[in-house]
Amino acid sequence: MMFWLFSILGVAAAFNNPPGVDIWCGKAYYPTNASFEPGGWLDSPALSTVPLLDLKVRPRMSLYTASDEKGSFIIDAGISYINGEPLGSDTVTGEHGSQSLEISISIEGSQLTVHHIVPLNSSSTEVEFSLLHLLPRFESYNVTLKASHSNSHHVYTATTSLYHLPSRTDGGSVTKVDSLYGGLSVQNQTDPSVWTPLLPYSYYVSWDGWLEKSLDNVQKFKDDGYNIIHIVPNAGLANEAFNFTELSLFLDKMDEVGLWLMYDMRWTYKNLTSVREQVDILKDHKSMLLWYTGDEPDGQGDPLNATRITYDLLKSIDPYHPVSLCLNCYNFYFEEYSSGADIILSDVYPIAVNTSWSTVYETPCNTTYGCCGCDDCEGSVEDISVRLDKFAEYQTWLGASPKPFWGVPMAFGNETFWTRYPTAAEEVTMTMLSVNHNAKGIVMWDWPTTTELANVTSALSRVLAGDEVTGFLLGAPTVSLQAKGHSKMDVAGWRLGDRMLISILSLQTPSWSSSVTVDLPEGAQSVTQVLWGSGEWKLVHGHLVKKGGNGLETDLVVVELASR
Ligand SMILES: *[C@@H]1O[C@H](CO)[C@@H](O)[C@H](O)[C@H]1NC(C)=O
Ligand SMILES: *[C@@H]1O[C@H](CO)[C@@H](O)[C@H](O)[C@H]1NC(C)=O
Ligand SMILES: *[C@@H]1O[C@H](CO)[C@@H](O)[C@H](O)[C@H]1NC(C)=O
Ligand SMILES: *[C@@H]1O[C@H](CO)[C@@H](O)[C@H](O)[C@H]1NC(C)=O
Ligand SMILES: *[C@@H]1O[C@H](CO)[C@@H](O)[C@H](O)[C@H]1NC(C)=O
Ligand SMILES: *[C@@H]1O[C@H](CO)[C@@H](O)[C@H](O)[C@H]1NC(C)=O
Ligand SMILES: *[C@@H]1O[C@H](CO)[C@@H](O)[C@H](O)[C@H]1NC(C)=O
Ligand SMILES: *[C@@H]1O[C@H](CO)[C@@H](O)[C@H](O)[C@H]1NC(C)=O
Ligand SMILES: *[C@@H]1O[C@H](CO)[C@@H](O)[C@H](O)[C@H]1NC(C)=O
Ligand SMILES: *[C@@H]1O[C@H](CO)[C@@H](O)[C@H](O)[C@H]1NC(C)=O
Ligand SMILES: *[C@@H]1O[C@H](CO)[C@@H](O)[C@H](O)[C@H]1NC(C)=O
Repeated sequence: MMFWLFSILGVAAAFNNPPGVDIWCGKAYYPTNASFEPGGWLDSPALSTVPLLDLKVRPRMSLYTASDEKGSFIIDAGISYINGEPLGSDTVTGEHGSQSLEISISIEGSQLTVHHIVPLNSSSTEVEFSLLHLLPRFESYNVTLKASHSNSHHVYTATTSLYHLPSRTDGGSVTKVDSLYGGLSVQNQTDPSVWTPLLPYSYYVSWDGWLEKSLDNVQKFKDDGYNIIHIVPNAGLANEAFNFTELSLFLDKMDEVGLWLMYDMRWTYKNLTSVREQVDILKDHKSMLLWYTGDEPDGQGDPLNATRITYDLLKSIDPYHPVSLCLNCYNFYFEEYSSGADIILSDVYPIAVNTSWSTVYETPCNTTYGCCGCDDCEGSVEDISVRLDKFAEYQTWLGASPKPFWGVPMAFGNETFWTRYPTAAEEVTMTMLSVNHNAKGIVMWDWPTTTELANVTSALSRVLAGDEVTGFLLGAPTVSLQAKGHSKMDVAGWRLGDRMLISILSLQTPSWSSSVTVDLPEGAQSVTQVLWGSGEWKLVHGHLVKKGGNGLETDLVVVELASR
């Protein structure tokens, strides 16, 4: 981001670009170069004519450690027309809901076999298993699931891998990724059997432009309410990373104040020697949370195998922390680039930008040409939710395990493609719109920002990173809810027991005066808390109702439901 304008010169012709033609998201963008088909576009697959059994298994947690007594597998046994093996004709007649599959899951080299029955066409069945007799080790275990149906002799199989790692004894941290709800959880270093969910809410922080200037900045950033810090390395240094003597003082301070580190190797991630060196320095730190490799590798046109090669190296030298990267393009080699991470960030910057005419290069922008600062965007906040939904759809098409997505809301402006900074209301909208579309972490670009934005994000941090909201967002599925009486409302909910967190966004600029009704699950009784925004939502006949409001309004409330 921001730096990329200077770094894309001299991209080798590895894609569809003729020699000497620079590309962004595969597209030519200089007025002196002509449009061509960029390639790398993922299309919806052709549908099967017969129903398929889309059988999948994955451990719920990206890793377990020796201090975990049990783990669980998540099993999907959906009927699909995209992925899977044909279902026998005898299997598909009749009521699928009443049919079931016999499952057995075995872990390589162990006596452990888990048996279960799952309904046909079900998803996210969670099956627990004991870890007590599985030897902890650094390598992952291969896991095989076999499924059969009483009406047929055919055995369906699915495979996955499982980490059961030795406990750390060096004071280093361990981070799990929950593949059911997408959240991170971190191990308590005093009591290793305790894991706490963490919803990262922070900024990409300039090292040489801010943090490095004073050790006190670590405490200041923590006091502002952010729970992690993503430090942007210094491209100007010989090692294109950090002065590690100096950085170590900051790392010690982070360990002391309890600020988690997202470690960025954007300039060096393709250099495996450098990656090894950096990981050796960082991996045993108490505050180490996760790795970050490619920053817009798709925009830059990095080699298609680059993110994966580094991912494999990282897993082999540090299986204790997840790997992330950030994608910038709408649809450019998503499968290849995303294969190199556990968590995918999406940076879509739609504010004060002209998405059809490049104000930097003076060319049109479309799906095959031009760079306008927001790839294949409309120039509205919905570009953010459309992109997150698209990424989720690409994953479904690929039949891959769902990787969590994080949002990168825009907190910069008055430069290149963007004529101004977002307003406070826009910042909150972009953030909560990401959350409504299942983002499980927020890292804004970038810090330092304007006083107005710093102010509002500090206030929002108290809500989003607080235990209560984090509990909802990382402990329940995101459910999309419908609003009537307002054409541009985006509403989502998260239900835990008898309580539901509801996030209601008005995405239009003008204020509104109509009466809006949000449909809720049965049994909604009362609004018990207003965490952000308007306190005017009332429960009327089981619906949330409010008359009139501000254009870009964001309301976060908790509703009490009757026990089910
Ligand atoms: C593309 O544009 C660059 C920069 O203006 C120019 O040097 C190069 O000759 C052009 N190449 C083609 C194939 O048009
Ligand atoms: C399978 O479940 C999906 C989602 O719940 C549903 O839309 C679909 O109709 C079901 N398919 C069959 C063949 O029962
Ligand atoms: C696990 O599976 C991988 C990929 O199929 C294979 O290369 C590897 O040899 C297997 N490991 C063991 C110990 O069976
Ligand atoms: C870790 O656990 C201890 C003991 O249960 C508790 O006092 C402490 O607050 C926990 N630390 C964190 C960072 O959650
Ligand atoms: C790194 O920082 C230390 C402390 O500020 C300084 O003494 C040293 O010269 C720096 N090293 C390099 C290579 O710049
Ligand atoms: C890769 O990193 C190593 C170690 O930091 C460094 O010595 C080397 O020059 C780097 N290679 C390239 C091509 O930048
Ligand atoms: C990665 O892709 C590049 C081409 O972009 C190729 O030269 C290289 O051999 C590949 N590396 C591996 C390990 O496959
Ligand atoms: C984008 O720029 C073009 C060309 O200058 C202009 O005609 C158009 O109105 C601009 N669109 C927006 C949304 O600013
Ligand atoms: C995109 O714009 C370029 C330049 O005007 C044009 O040559 C190309 O045909 C356009 N592509 C599409 C898909 O419209
Ligand atoms: C916008 O950027 C220009 C050039 O960097 C600067 O002179 C101006 O003060 C900035 N305006 C605002 C409102 O930040
Ligand atoms: C910061 O936010 C507070 C309310 O949270 C508001 O009163 C104040 O005006 C804001 N300051 C700026 C500079 O936006």
